[in-house]
Amino acid sequence: MINKLYFPCSDNKTKQHAFEAIKAEQKHIGYYGLPEQDTSAITNYCQKIPETVENIVVIGIGGSSLGAKAVYEFIRPVRTLTRRLFFFESTDPVNLTALLHDIVLDKTHFLVISKSGTTVETFAIYKYIYSLHNDPQSYTFITDPGSPLERYAHTIRADVLHLPANVGGRFSVLSTVGLLPLALCGIDIHTLLKGAQSIKESFFNAGYMQETLLNKAAYYAKHHAQYHINCLFAYSESLKYFCEWYVQLWGESLGKHQRHSAFHVGLTPIGLIGPKDQHSFLQLIMEGTRDKSVTFIKIEDFNDHTMISDISLPNLEILDALNGLPFETLINMQCDSVMEALLNEKDIPVDVITIPNTGEYTAGALIFYYELLTSLVGELIDVNTYDQPGVEAGKIILKEKLAAQKG
Ligand code: PA5
Repeated sequence: MINKLYFPCSDNKTKQHAFEAIKAEQKHIGYYGLPEQDTSAITNYCQKIPETVENIVVIGIGGSSLGAKAVYEFIRPVRTLTRRLFFFESTDPVNLTALLHDIVLDKTHFLVISKSGTTVETFAIYKYIYSLHNDPQSYTFITDPGSPLERYAHTIRADVLHLPANVGGRFSVLSTVGLLPLALCGIDIHTLLKGAQSIKESFFNAGYMQETLLNKAAYYAKHHAQYHINCLFAYSESLKYFCEWYVQLWGESLGKHQRHSAFHVGLTPIGLIGPKDQHSFLQLIMEGTRDKSVTFIKIEDFNDHTMISDISLPNLEILDALNGLPFETLINMQCDSVMEALLNEKDIPVDVITIPNTGEYTAGALIFYYELLTSLVGELIDVNTYDQPGVEAGKIILKEKLAAQKG
C-alpha cells in the first residue's frame, strides 16, 4: 500500500509530539494490540457452528457491525465464500422484513453483538427474531464482560464471547466483533491481521508509514479550521462500506469538545465512490468553498480484466479510443484525471492511497492505517478520540422516551 501526499510536510516538533503520545497510548488503548492477537479461540469456535448453517446474521449497529460489513463487502465480489453474511442493523421494518425473506431461519446462526449490551436497535431486532426462532443454540452473544447482555445470555444458556479490554466499538473490527462473523464466512482472518500488522510495524518501527501518517495527520490538524471536511474518494464499488466505516470512525472519534479548551472541533468525513460521484459531488469540491481535503483510493489490480468491446458506434466514433481498453485501466485513468484536475486548482489538499488488490491483507492494512490516522489526528486536535458522549446522549433520551410511553 502506497500513500502519496501532495501537500507540504509539517514541522518535526508536532510530529514528534504525536508519535510519542500514540506510543504511550498503546499501554491503555486496546486496539493497538489486536494485530498480534492469538486467533485460535475464534477459529476453534467456528468449528462449533454446524456445517448445515448457510447464513450468518450479525444483529448489531455502529461499531458492532460496520467493520465486518466493510471487509465482507470488499472481499465478497472476488471470492467464493463458504457462507453468506447479513447485517440486521436497522429498525426500518421494511428492511427487516426484506432481510428475513432472504434467509431460512433453521439454516442461520445469529451473532448478537453489543459492547454495552443494552442498545435499543439491537434488542428491538433481537426480540423480534428470537420470537420467530427461539433456539438458544442458534445464537452467540458478543459483549463486554459482565454486561446486561452477558447476564441475559446466561439465562438462556447461550454462548457468550467477550470484546478484549479497552477496545471501543468503532475500533473493534479486528477483535472478535469483526473476526468471528468474517471467519464464519471463510474470510482469512489470519491474513487480515497480517495486513494490519504490516502497517503497525511500519509506523512504530520507523518504516515508510511513520513519516507518511505523521505528515498527513499533522497537516490535517494544523489546517483543521480551514479544511474541516475530509472526502474519501474510493474508485471501486467494493469500497462503499469501507467508506461507511470510515465515516463512523472519523466522525465519532474526532467531533468533540477539545480536552483543554471550551471549543467544539471536528473533522467531517464524506465517503465518495468513483466514478459515480464524479458526476455529482465533485462539482462542490472543485468549485465550492475551500474547506475540503480529498483522499483518493485506487486499486492497482482488480483481478478482473474485462475489456470494453472493440466496436465502433456510428456517429460516436469519438469514443473509439475506449475500444479494447480494460475497465480496470479506465477506472484508474478516471481517478488520475480527477486528481490532476483538483491538483491544478492548487488550493485543495490531495493525497492518494494505492492498494495492490482486493484481498484480506489489503483490507487489514487499510483498516489499521485509518485507525492510526484517526488516533494521531485526535491527539493533535486535542480531543478524546475514544469516547462518544454525543452518541450516548441520544441513546439516553430514547430510553427515557420509551419508558415514558409505557407510562
Ligand atoms: O463506536 C461506538 O462506540 C458506537 O458506534 C457503538 O458501536 C454503537 O453505538 C453500538 O453500541 P453497542 O455495541 O454498545 O451496542
